[in-house]
Amino acid sequence: MWRPAQRIRWKPDPGAWPSAAEAAASRLFSPVAVGPLTLPARTWVPAMVPWRATDAGEVTPAVLAWYERFAQGRPGGMVVEATGIRDIPSGPLLRIGNDRFVPGLAQLAETVRRASGGSTKLFIQIIDFLSIRRRPARERYLREFLRLTPAHRDRLGAGGSSDGEVRERLVAKTDEELAGILSPREHEALRMGSRERVTDTDLAHIRDLPKVLPDLFAAAAKRAESAGFDGVELHYAHAYTMASFLSALNDRTDGYGGACENRVRLPLEAYAAVRAAVGRHFAVGCRFLAEDCIAGGSTVTDAAYFGAEFAKAGTDFLSLSRGGKFEDAKQPKIGEAAYPYTGPSGYECMPQYISDERGPFGRNVEPAAAIRRSVRAAGRATPIVVTGGIHGFHQAEALLAADQADLVGFARQSLADPDWFEKVRTGRGAEVRVCEYTNYCEALDQNHEVVTCKLWDRKDLDEPGILKTPDGKRRMTAPTWKPL
Ligand SMILES: Cc1cc2nc3c(=O)[nH]c(=O)nc-3n(C[C@H](O)[C@H](O)[C@H](O)COP(=O)(O)O)c2cc1C
Ligand code: SF4
Repeated sequence: MWRPAQRIRWKPDPGAWPSAAEAAASRLFSPVAVGPLTLPARTWVPAMVPWRATDAGEVTPAVLAWYERFAQGRPGGMVVEATGIRDIPSGPLLRIGNDRFVPGLAQLAETVRRASGGSTKLFIQIIDFLSIRRRPARERYLREFLRLTPAHRDRLGAGGSSDGEVRERLVAKTDEELAGILSPREHEALRMGSRERVTDTDLAHIRDLPKVLPDLFAAAAKRAESAGFDGVELHYAHAYTMASFLSALNDRTDGYGGACENRVRLPLEAYAAVRAAVGRHFAVGCRFLAEDCIAGGSTVTDAAYFGAEFAKAGTDFLSLSRGGKFEDAKQPKIGEAAYPYTGPSGYECMPQYISDERGPFGRNVEPAAAIRRSVRAAGRATPIVVTGGIHGFHQAEALLAADQADLVGFARQSLADPDWFEKVRTGRGAEVRVCEYTNYCEALDQNHEVVTCKLWDRKDLDEPGILKTPDGKRRMTAPTWKPL
């Protein structure tokens, strides 16, 4: 993973823990309205993909165990991992692109309801993404995959040569020389693996995204409603389709790119289609980026505009993340696909303990506050969820008191200890297993391996009935909390 050059080592510092009485009087443990729902607390578990679905995208016992364990900690809201809205193979990522996925998802919703005593409101994050290929071996790309064009012959001065001769001449060039012969996209396909973009409007399926996505999002949301979820979170963040429409890098000329008003158009159209498809008691919100954190990407000013537009359209909540883009991702190994959390923008998304002078804790708080101010200036009370490096009670309470956000997301901290919420609420914060922000979990995610936490992996492996990873070396869920 990329890290800031300063390499300053930060230690998580949750500060003092509250007594049960202090917690009861706190903002964090006070109820909050999220559209038609009332959450019992302003605590939120954001989406985290644990790579536990089947290759067909179905819920497994390991998926149920993962969410059951989070629900036992009774966060106010919880968002199920990014779940694909199309019925296409996408590895062990949950899917909701067909009615056959509904029974498994209904079981998931029921499991969470039971484990949280009905207190945690459950959302599912629904996502669309474009195709990305693995990085090819150099010779294979130049001999087989590259589509030869007259430009290649011109640049090589190989006018009368056969295709085979042109390809061999390309193979003989150094990588620097190839940069001057291949187009930028071809050179990227060679170095990183080819990746579709929302701006590839010469491809019919990309040109037609505005025609197909609203209905796909709406159908997925309807399935979530029938499976018993309390709401959906439209995934408009990170490296995926909708975030790419919102990005300042989107220069489509069909009314869906360029100025902010055009970039937000498709996300608003998808929201409107979803809203029209589901009932009034079902919450619809979205997650988007407070900042793209890449050269030429959207800024906080853009995001403040998007936030106000989403709020005016009637979204029930806005959850803010940051970064996590392909544009600055590390070059993958041959045979592997680029991963959008390996560059500086990835660092902003999941900041690690080795950091710069700003540190990894609360980097998204001020940007989120700016977006909240814009939403309030537009006359909307839409609740804002902020996430990123938050692990202490007073840290969370202070940002709520300063009106920087309305709900607080704890992703890795709730992975390290899903009982954070119950421990802190009952005055037992001293028993919290504090996340070290080492990103061991994120490395597993990057390798599409079953996600676990290094603080509970090898603990109490003899606990009766626990699920273990396929190699039998790690536990699949956090150890049971036995109050001291
Ligand atoms: C293993 C893992 C999987 C993640 N999967 C998702 C995801 O599916 N959707 C999403 O919006 N964010 C995802 N994230 C990002 C988190 O929701 C969160 O924004 C990020 O970890 C920063 O918050 P934290 O510092 O509280 O962990 C993931 C993070 C981790 C560690
Ligand atoms: S592995 Fe555990 S301790 Fe390390 S960053 Fe992930 S959740 Fe935190």
